[in-house]
Amino acid sequence: MYNIAIVGATGNVGRKFLNILEERNFPIKELYLFASKKSNGSYLKFKNKSYLVEETIEDNIKNKKIDYALFSAGGETSLKYAPIFTKYGAIVIDNSNAWRMDKDVPLIVPEVNPEDLKSHNGIIANPNCSTIQAMIPLKILKDNYGLKRIIYSTYQAVSGAGIGGINDLKNGISGISPTKFPYPIFNNCIPQIDIFLDNGYTKEEIKMVNETKKILHDDNLKITATTVRVPVLNCHGESINIELLNDYNLKDVINLFNNSKGLILYDEKESLKYPMPILADGKDEVYIGRVRRDFSVDNGLNIWVVADNLRKGAALNAIQILETLTN
Ligand code: A2P
Repeated sequence: MYNIAIVGATGNVGRKFLNILEERNFPIKELYLFASKKSNGSYLKFKNKSYLVEETIEDNIKNKKIDYALFSAGGETSLKYAPIFTKYGAIVIDNSNAWRMDKDVPLIVPEVNPEDLKSHNGIIANPNCSTIQAMIPLKILKDNYGLKRIIYSTYQAVSGAGIGGINDLKNGISGISPTKFPYPIFNNCIPQIDIFLDNGYTKEEIKMVNETKKILHDDNLKITATTVRVPVLNCHGESINIELLNDYNLKDVINLFNNSKGLILYDEKESLKYPMPILADGKDEVYIGRVRRDFSVDNGLNIWVVADNLRKGAALNAIQILETLTN
């Protein structure tokens, strides 16, 4: 039995942490909930019991014996408070962007690189939602054929932008101006996720590039990405175009995808079977379909993956990391 803290418990991902810990019956002795000052003194339900939400400040942390802290309260909160939790003995599993590229912090998708958990300094990072769902098929392709180049094009749901993103889509239906996104998201697509960098890419795009290299242990992999917010409530879709190092037989690739943990092959053109957000919503697995040869290059392959960005893309992956650490 473990003492668990959730930082950002009132947010989209924080609430999913609670749901999934309950669903999977994770052995919890004490549960401590943290959020911003705004939520101090409010209560959240877990297993039919109400738990107090406390402000994330050192005074509220130091008197508790926390084994693991699950963070999803934004990068700044993680940068400031992850070291404070580790100072008092907790291991932090952080969903934000703050620590992912730190060389002493493992960046983990449990089906892909659990071995990287062997050494850490108390902080473990959960990858970006759009990176996580691409990793299982790409690891299979890397292990069997080698990877040369990856082109990501994403279709990302508003829930990835937190409660503000969901409100912008819902309110946008009645013409209310957005507060989270720079433009209306209802009846629109926005080719910008996160801020712009000097090189013309958005931060989300560069996260996908750098995190993929780190998780797959290949700094020389050629990767590019275009990330787009679409008016879907939940579940990200991704078109991934891949150049493999070696040629492949399509049936073998399909067979490999069909026999992989955490991946569901959903691909049958005759019956119009392909992954969509409404299929993946609430599910644990990554769905893969539209698997076909890219005839325009040597050893080219196209795939389409969809996953629940709040579950496998965030809370579930973090809890799978927790389960891997405690098993
Ligand atoms: P609060 O609800 O008190 O603002 P989302 O991404 O879904 O909007 O959720 C963000 C989460 O991060 C919420 O739980 C929010 O708490 C929490 N949060 C935001 N700012 C801070 C902060 N400075 N310290 C601790 N938690 C924070």
